[in-house]
Amino acid sequence: MKLRYFSHSAFQITSSSGKKILIDPFFDGNPTSPVNAKDVSADYIILTHGHGDHLGDAFDIAKRCNSLFICVNELANYCASKGFKAHNMHIGGGYNFDFGRVKFTIAHHGSMTNDNYYAGEPSGVILSIDGKNVYHTGDTGLFYDMKLIGEMIRLDYMLLPIGDNFTMGITDAVKAVELANPNVAIPMHYNTFSVIAADPNEFKMKVEALGKKCTVMQYGEEIEL
Ligand code: NI
Ligand code: MN
Repeated sequence: MKLRYFSHSAFQITSSSGKKILIDPFFDGNPTSPVNAKDVSADYIILTHGHGDHLGDAFDIAKRCNSLFICVNELANYCASKGFKAHNMHIGGGYNFDFGRVKFTIAHHGSMTNDNYYAGEPSGVILSIDGKNVYHTGDTGLFYDMKLIGEMIRLDYMLLPIGDNFTMGITDAVKAVELANPNVAIPMHYNTFSVIAADPNEFKMKVEALGKKCTVMQYGEEIEL
């Protein structure tokens, strides 16, 4: 499996079977994105919540690629109401797709779309693909049940926000890594806008001080998981 980071909370996973799964695709309105939406394709699009910096360019990409949306019920219904294919799920539930398993978790945040549709509860998502477990927390504050999540599923990678203001900042994100106990932490949701400025290397140093691993991905970088 390959993991590509585009900046903000936007990632693309490519499974060994060649399926492309896009998470929170925010490109054209994103000042830090190294790509334009028209250059990205997806078989599946997972949205953690309905905010504009996560829904992003999802509809343009889905229209071009005939992608299937995977999200919590209310947000999936919103996508379906716009004419797109959607697989409705909800927090605590998992489902086996042809590329692997998707399970939704809680997240402490909001979820209103830019056109004022209440998109249900915000979520995090755990993807189990090619024998590895990747936890994308979505936008969230710190919560103690991250410990439970890490106890129930051995986490290989945890993608988590460090930008503060709307989500966890560095101090809380380091605690989140301690609680969920992934093999590798990857910071996201920082430096996109000045209000979420944060130093990923400060986060990395603090995670490593716990004896844990952290990979700071460059914008556009792809790594093999
Ligand atoms: Ni948000
Ligand atoms: Mn956000």
